[in-house]
Amino acid sequence: MEPGNEVSAFGWVKTRRDSKGLSFVQLSDGSTFNDLQVIVEAGVLDEATLKKLTTGACVRFDGLIVESPAAGQAVELKASGVEVFGEADPATYPLQKKGASFEFLREIAHLRVRGNTFGAVYRVRNRLSYAVHNFFQARGFQYVHTPIVTTSDAEGAGAMFYVSTNLGHDEKGYTLKNPNPAEDFFGKPAFLTVSGQLEAETLAMGLTNVYTFGPTFRAENSSTSRHLAEFWMIEPEMAFCSLEGDMNLAEEFLKEVINDALENCGADLDFFNKRIEPTLLETLTHVVNSPFERLTYTEAIKILENSGENFEYPVAWGTDLQSEHERWLTEVKVGRPVILTDYPKEIKAFYMRQNEDGKTVRAMDVLAPRIGEIIGGSQREERLDVLEARIEEMGLPKEAYWWYLDLRRFGSAPHAGFGLGFERLIMYVTGMKNIRDVIPYYRVPGNADF
Ligand code: 4AD
Ligand code: MG
Repeated sequence: MEPGNEVSAFGWVKTRRDSKGLSFVQLSDGSTFNDLQVIVEAGVLDEATLKKLTTGACVRFDGLIVESPAAGQAVELKASGVEVFGEADPATYPLQKKGASFEFLREIAHLRVRGNTFGAVYRVRNRLSYAVHNFFQARGFQYVHTPIVTTSDAEGAGAMFYVSTNLGHDEKGYTLKNPNPAEDFFGKPAFLTVSGQLEAETLAMGLTNVYTFGPTFRAENSSTSRHLAEFWMIEPEMAFCSLEGDMNLAEEFLKEVINDALENCGADLDFFNKRIEPTLLETLTHVVNSPFERLTYTEAIKILENSGENFEYPVAWGTDLQSEHERWLTEVKVGRPVILTDYPKEIKAFYMRQNEDGKTVRAMDVLAPRIGEIIGGSQREERLDVLEARIEEMGLPKEAYWWYLDLRRFGSAPHAGFGLGFERLIMYVTGMKNIRDVIPYYRVPGNADF
């Protein structure tokens, strides 16, 4: 967009302001944070057309790029003509005012992309997706697609959505046809996956280093600012890898994708720093440049017990850490991300490798300030007898995991992996406070609109 060029600019009108015979239109096509300022001089457009250039209208301006005399932009478009594709009646267009609350914008999630905040969130989301693939591809990891519909419970926790065609319809609405799963579509109970990990493990036992990046589903009844029923997860899985290798990769991975956003989403992150989270840029730069703290769960419990803090949930060895504990550790005690390892086996999934002490497993969680748990991972149990015993001990259906156990029967290898919740990463990088505002359409208990 050099001065002197004749161009056509397509987009949506953000605002129009009229002053002394001139109209100033802020036009955005969402490609960058910065709008294009369009100047319409008196007499260029007839009154009726000018009136249609209201917030939300979709247009094409034709004109000349000129140097901008005003601060805020280097160039602007001097309009010679316009085509209005779609008007937006100011009396009914819902996205009128600046400063609408995020709660209100969730109700018009189909339109919120046109505002500054959501345009920026979705561009950062796009860039981070690209950075994730770059990170793994540059290291020779194979991108694998694991199933979305599955008959196994990857976390052994049962928080799954049931997939069925067992639905009829009568004049009152939907009805359930047949309670017998054996006569349903898949011939047995099927679910939306909670994690691609188990299938990713099978692929790592042949491709060595793999990763997934796909949607996952959790039917947990938790309406918090950090939980979605449908979210995206990135799950690398590495053969010949220990927990140390797993932690090193997780740390390198977070630093690299955050740095990528710092380098490539400058204008968007400046906006978040100004409007959403005033310490954002400082924090992200600090995270990229300093080592994560590493502690065992047992050490963390001691630190929490001696903290003198009055936590709502008491801390004791053997209990799961609550969000308040995770945040205190990362925000108050350490001031940067913390990796906790070696959790009690009772509070972790069946597939984690057991330590010699008989009490703890080779688990690791990466905790981040403001977010709490952002990554969960582990070294996997590669010993058939230990894994079988654990599955039985936990009362899980051993037959259902026959193929998973086969990996330990035939050519078993030490291996490890982790899962990063993509929306939690976006919250961290943008400073947005509610996970419902970092995905275009959010699913939580009671809401699957759009
Ligand atoms: O800790 P989680 O449950 O671990 C797993 O699913 C493993 N199978 C991962 C692996 O080792 N391959 O989930 C991993 C991450 C969490 O740390 C969190 O960031 C995110 O997924 N997560 C959620 N994000 C949004 N909404 C939810 N309901 C989430 N549950 C987990
Ligand atoms: Mg976890």
